[in-house]
Amino acid sequence: MHVKESIGRRRTIRFFLPFRPVEREKIQKMLEAARRASCVGNVMNVRGIVIWKEQASEELIRAITPPLGYQQMQTAPVFIFWYNETAAYHIDKWIDDLNRLADTRRIGTDAEVTKAQINKGLRPAFAASWQAMAVSPLAFMDVGQAIAQATLVAYDEGLGTCCMSSPRLETIGKLLKLPDTAVPVCVQAVGYSAEQWEAGGQTVKPPMESMFFDMEYGKPFTPDPAVNQELKAEKMIWEDAPLSWRGEELKYLMRGLGLEERITSFPIPVPPAGNGQQG
Ligand SMILES: Cc1cc2nc3c(=O)[nH]c(=O)nc-3n(C[C@H](O)[C@H](O)[C@H](O)COP(=O)(O)O)c2cc1C
Repeated sequence: MHVKESIGRRRTIRFFLPFRPVEREKIQKMLEAARRASCVGNVMNVRGIVIWKEQASEELIRAITPPLGYQQMQTAPVFIFWYNETAAYHIDKWIDDLNRLADTRRIGTDAEVTKAQINKGLRPAFAASWQAMAVSPLAFMDVGQAIAQATLVAYDEGLGTCCMSSPRLETIGKLLKLPDTAVPVCVQAVGYSAEQWEAGGQTVKPPMESMFFDMEYGKPFTPDPAVNQELKAEKMIWEDAPLSWRGEELKYLMRGLGLEERITSFPIPVPPAGNGQQG
């Protein structure tokens, strides 16, 4: 599948076929896609723990269950717990990673000259900032980039996924034997969709003009309708949700999967002010 089509076919899936296992090789392909993602200084701070539902304890499944995860947790056979390994930013490792980029000729032109600049010029600056950088927006962006690549590969492999956020993720460190340097990011449910692949239409997004700007804030980047036509032909843009049959599909899914009419797994805890975590 072309990358544009994978983007077009991707949409959050919340109903999975509980009886259909996900092949280990498909999960490996997702992880490989995450491993191939770009990242600050190539420190590669993204980490994931694959949780096969049938092998997991009830306690673990309860611990990773997010408030808005009832349908996914009931039906998905696999979850990937993604986190930020802040130790990847440790100053010595960060400098080693940069030097390796120089040695493998992926940064600079002359390896020895580049390494001298890294060791003399960058090390002092990074030594003062690596702890802050390890939890900076860029560090989490890189985890997100990796998850996005894994997600597109999942759809390319015929799977569906749903990322889920939960304040409870902070509490599962012990169960997963996480190091203290781990900062949980999200749990991604993975499986074969019980929904038609369209899942009732493409998720409606805000207009491009309201999100992206030309040269300065407030000057909208205006999309060319001819380009949108091209992207429709390339299967990146599809019909918006809801398609006419979505209501009937949802009733069918609820009956077929024996689900209750709710989206919450448990009452949603009110997060402290400023911690906007719900998906
Ligand atoms: C980081 C993240 C956390 C999310 N958390 C939840 C969640 O807890 N429960 C849920 O049902 N959906 C969750 N979602 C799914 C979003 O609601 C969904 O992605 C959004 O509606 C956009 O739809 P789309 O993915 O089809 O484009 C999350 C998505 C992301 C990326």
